[in-house]
Amino acid sequence: MRRDDPASWVGPIRPEEEDESKGNYRKGFRWQYRTIGSEDWMVQLLPRDPTIWAMTQQLLGEGEVLEPEGVRGIYCTLPSGDHDRGANGCHVDAHPFHLGVVAYVDDVDPGGGGFRVWAGSHRTFYADFDSAYCMEPKQQYEVDRKRLSQGHSIDCYGQSGDVVFWHHRLGHMAAHNHTRRIRQAVLYDFRKKDLVDKQNEPPADDMWKDWSPAVRQAAVEGAAP
Ligand SMILES: [Fe+2]
Repeated sequence: MRRDDPASWVGPIRPEEEDESKGNYRKGFRWQYRTIGSEDWMVQLLPRDPTIWAMTQQLLGEGEVLEPEGVRGIYCTLPSGDHDRGANGCHVDAHPFHLGVVAYVDDVDPGGGGFRVWAGSHRTFYADFDSAYCMEPKQQYEVDRKRLSQGHSIDCYGQSGDVVFWHHRLGHMAAHNHTRRIRQAVLYDFRKKDLVDKQNEPPADDMWKDWSPAVRQAAVEGAAP
C-alpha cells in the first residue's frame, strides 16, 4: 500500500500482509488501528471535544457520563474496487454502552463506506435482548435482524470532521466502500457512570428511561419498524 498511489489502497489486504493483532488489525477490507486510541490528543479530538461533550451530556444527563479515557482508534474501510461485497445487513453491537459516535477523519462520499444505519431500528431491537445493555439476544433478535436487513438503510456519508451520533441498539453496518478513498473514522462509545450497576436490568417499558430529561420530554414521531 503506497501513500501516493490510490490503486494500491483497494482491498482486500493481501494474505501475507494480514495482521489479526488488536493494535493494528488488517484483514479483508478492514484496517483497525487501535494502538493510538488511548493517546490524549485522540481523546481530545472526539469525545472530550467541548462541543461533542456538551451534546453528549445534553442527551445522557449532566454529570452522568463517564469521563472518556480512550477511543476505539481509527477504523478504516478499504475501497472494494471490482470486488462484489455482497448484500447489506445490519447488526447490533455486543458491548454495553449508551451512545456511539463515529467521526470522519477524511471526507466520505456517498457509497464511500460511511456508517450505514437502519433508521428507527433501535426501537425494535431494544426489546430483543434479555437485558437493556448486554448481548443476550432473544430469538426475536435474529428474526428482526433478518427482516430489517431487507429494508431501507441510510448511508451516513459526510465531510471530514462530521460526527454521527447513534443509539446503542441501532442496527448498523460498516458499509462497503465503492469510492477510491479509504474510509477513515474515529469511534467512541459513551457510557454513563451507573452502567455497570444497570446493564443487566431487563429492557424498560420506557426505552429512554436512562436518558436526560431533555430527551425524555422530546416529542416521539413515527413507529418502530
Ligand atoms: Fe457494529
